[in-house]
Amino acid sequence: MKEDKSCEGDLFCGVNKPKNPAQMTDLEKKHTPVIEAPDVVKKGEMFNVTVEVGKLMKHPNEAGHYIEFIELYAGDTFLTRVDLIPERTAPKITIPISLTHAHPLRAFERCNLHGTWEGTKEIKVE
Ligand SMILES: [Fe+2]
Repeated sequence: MKEDKSCEGDLFCGVNKPKNPAQMTDLEKKHTPVIEAPDVVKKGEMFNVTVEVGKLMKHPNEAGHYIEFIELYAGDTFLTRVDLIPERTAPKITIPISLTHAHPLRAFERCNLHGTWEGTKEIKVE
């Protein structure tokens, strides 16, 4: 579901998200970044976050169709960005991060043919 309704039907307008996460289309499965991280972390302590595109359904990784970058945010706070090329890199990153209070982790990716997609994961901070 897009926040900007004027973007409906245009993959390169706004950020794409699954319309119904319980019943994703093949396009949504191929593009929605999946975040793997603990459900609960200790305040200020490093933990690993993995973001993978194509985990739910494999996405092509060739010159004409590939994932150009992956970005990770904690809420609105930018954490990292990794630029990717086809064939020699895969759209999967792992990075240690720490949180000082609860934020949803938000991962963004961009496919050269299908636009920008967001995936999220809630994390508790103790
Ligand atoms: Fe794509």
